[in-house]
Amino acid sequence: MNILLIARNKDKLNDASQLIREESPGVETEIVQVDFSHGRVIYQEIARHVEGKNIGILVNNVGMASNPPKKFAEASEDEVWGHVNVNVASVVAMTQLVLPGMLARGRGAIINVGSGASCFPMPYLAIYSATKAFVDFFSESLSWELRGSGITVQTLRPCTVITNMTSFSENNSKPSFFVATTKTYVTSALATLSHSGRTSGYWPHGLQEFLMDEVFNHRLCMYMIGVRFPAVLKAEQMRVAEEHAKKK
Ligand SMILES: NC(=O)c1ccc[n+]([C@@H]2O[C@H](COP(=O)([O-])OP(=O)(O)OC[C@H]3O[C@@H](n4cnc5c(N)ncnc54)[C@H](OP(=O)(O)O)[C@@H]3O)[C@@H](O)[C@H]2O)c1
Repeated sequence: MNILLIARNKDKLNDASQLIREESPGVETEIVQVDFSHGRVIYQEIARHVEGKNIGILVNNVGMASNPPKKFAEASEDEVWGHVNVNVASVVAMTQLVLPGMLARGRGAIINVGSGASCFPMPYLAIYSATKAFVDFFSESLSWELRGSGITVQTLRPCTVITNMTSFSENNSKPSFFVATTKTYVTSALATLSHSGRTSGYWPHGLQEFLMDEVFNHRLCMYMIGVRFPAVLKAEQMRVAEEHAKKK
């Protein structure tokens, strides 16, 4: 398949585009540089690039979270609107752009990247967790509406995958049983497309979500995160300060 890459950083887009072409000769790539935090104004530009193309798979992956996590009262206005525009508006607006073509062709797949953070309300990631609950509900409802249309809608709910988003915590930046590398996670998650409509995408994460959803009380999970996060953040601040001191 040819790939249309949409993100905000031109250098990263060019690098990804070049890598794809090198690794998969014959695959064409096109890039669209837009900042999803700007909201509605960017979708005309995206529509221009989508027009005339048969989009087979839409991956709604773009997302942001406060890094490090913080109390809602400490978030800036840009951060608040960023979460809404990047995590919520992008999913519905991109779907609205490509769905008519998929419906006309009677086939396609939409992968919505939610999060295990939507299993229960998360203090210190309040907006993030709530926006991912939106993704979960929207994606599940859409999947129901599109039954029999030939279009697969998948909701992915990863737990911890090592990326920039997890860089606030040293523990979440090293691979372990529950902490996946991007390669491990994506390989596993893609193998579930068309087999599972709503999944963690990676079985250790599925185990975590089973415990959070079915075994532990949500209020207990919320309490544990509420108590644990300040300690994690403090330990991380101390680690960074020690590293700075060593470098001096
Ligand atoms: N990592 C995890 O543990 C985890 C767990 C559950 C769910 N998720 C979800 O997985 C998805 C991918 O996240 P990730 O972990 O790969 O995080 P990431 O490393 O921060 O990557 C997010 C991607 O979105 C792009 N992006 C962020 N804000 C943007 C904006 N305003 N406009 C355009 N592009 C923007 C980033 O571009 P830049 O490179 O320019 O920043 C990057 O390509 C997200 O939906 C996230 O919520 C991640």
